[in-house]
Amino acid sequence: MMTNDPVWPWPRILAHRGGGTLAPENTVAGLRCGMAAGFRAIEFDVMLARDGVPVVLHDPGLGRTVRGSGSVFEHDALELAAMDAGSWFGHGFAGEPVPLFDAFARLCMAHGIWMNIEIKPAPGYERETGHIVAQMTAALFADALASGDPAALPLLSSFSDVALAAAQAAAPTLPRACLISALGADWQVRAQALGVHAIHTNHLHLSRQQARTVKDAGYGLFCYTVNDAGRARELLAWGVDAFCTDRIDLITPDFT
Ligand code: G3P
Ligand code: MG
Repeated sequence: MMTNDPVWPWPRILAHRGGGTLAPENTVAGLRCGMAAGFRAIEFDVMLARDGVPVVLHDPGLGRTVRGSGSVFEHDALELAAMDAGSWFGHGFAGEPVPLFDAFARLCMAHGIWMNIEIKPAPGYERETGHIVAQMTAALFADALASGDPAALPLLSSFSDVALAAAQAAAPTLPRACLISALGADWQVRAQALGVHAIHTNHLHLSRQQARTVKDAGYGLFCYTVNDAGRARELLAWGVDAFCTDRIDLITPDFT
């Protein structure tokens, strides 16, 4: 469900990495699982393969979620897309591929799924990743960008300031958010320098006062990864605009 809030005109409850704990992360199976649970908004991670093609993946190293060894940037995207990103989660997901970002984003768009696209550069590829992901996203959303309606746009986020700056240069009108695990004294200086729209932070380190400060400064405020309903309610009461959850079985998209 979208909101009427000009600062956060997007859904408030997102399925983390597509399907949370119910499906292999960052896969089409995960997306379908989130959709089956009623979610209309997801967060997922994007990094570049060796050939510069973005793929939906969290770790720069293979082995945890993708069968194989070595690093993502030792493989071209189509090689990664042929790898098994599902078996680690369960036999029923064996052969689930690493999605190509372009196809994955198009699938989300076709189903009306709002996206928080986390730019997750492999070390050393921050600028290139921010640039390419923003450029491709802008191309996918050219009509929405032309319409000037922010509610129709996805939100790019990253822990990397270099990636966020590169994304801004590539697509200045796409909304972006700083991912900051714990808000330090310099969070607003960073946010201003990067021209971001929102702050995404780990709820475990967030205080009520910090939430108020961020909101009073006019930023959107998003928390990751909230898996407890009581805590979710508390955060929303503090003015947090939105959050992602792994527990899509416990915290539903209409959660208040
Ligand atoms: O975007 C929120 C959250 O996904 C950030 O951390 O490591 O789960 O990608 P991580
Ligand atoms: Mg993420």
